[in-house]
Amino acid sequence: MSYWARFRVWRGDSEKGELVDYPVEVNEGEVVLDVVHRLQQTEAPDLAVRWNCKAGKCGSCSMEINGRPRLACMTRMNTFAEDEVVTITPLRTFPVIRDLVTDVSFNYTKAREVPAFAPPPDLKPGEYRMQQVDVERSQEFRKCIECYLCQNTCHVVRDHEENKQHFAGPRYLMRIAELDMHPLDAADRKRAAQEEHGLGFCNITKCCTEVCPENIKITDNALIPLKERVVDRKYDPLIWLGNKIFKR
Ligand code: SF4
Ligand code: F3S
Ligand code: FES
Repeated sequence: MSYWARFRVWRGDSEKGELVDYPVEVNEGEVVLDVVHRLQQTEAPDLAVRWNCKAGKCGSCSMEINGRPRLACMTRMNTFAEDEVVTITPLRTFPVIRDLVTDVSFNYTKAREVPAFAPPPDLKPGEYRMQQVDVERSQEFRKCIECYLCQNTCHVVRDHEENKQHFAGPRYLMRIAELDMHPLDAADRKRAAQEEHGLGFCNITKCCTEVCPENIKITDNALIPLKERVVDRKYDPLIWLGNKIFKR
């Protein structure tokens, strides 16, 4: 069964834009991205949208649907009433390029700022041994599809452009946590997490976790443990004494 939905789509570029209303046909079983493609085939052939896999795995089709950051290819049309206006807008935290496409290079910059996995230099290939619990922890974080919905949602940068320089965002603080908890990583990441990547900005509101399409427990399993590890180190009496002696 098909019906006509009311779509309200943000059209514009970095200079100016507006919400434009489109009536558009919807068929049973469709997702928001299907309807966006139908708009491109009919009334709005120049509508810009980024997508790739249509299976919730490439992280390209992130947008805000009725104000909520979501993947368009994983948002079923039957979650809306047939007479409801469905409003789709670009991610708010990143600069608009055109229509629903934003410039997400902030995230690439932050990714490059996290030093790579650093095993001990004398460890030879084949000598790597890990407990299953450590493997599973990394695997949860590795489910990330880099959709940047968490980065877009975190209020630290969503409402404060000025924080962008000093805050890596939940996705990359999670990467630091993954490496810091990795039994074979020899780099010291705790000081940098706090002083360079802005861990202290995170006040564990958990909005990042709520929007993650991979259901990664970003706050509980990455950010809070990383904060605890930073604090443990700061208040460890032996480390405190060592710092006092060697910083003289
Ligand atoms: Fe997307 Fe989740 Fe990865 Fe954030 S952690 S970029 S919300 S998949
Ligand atoms: Fe932001 Fe997530 Fe922390 S939303 S404040 S990074 S818990
Ligand atoms: Fe790949 Fe939506 S198109 S996640």
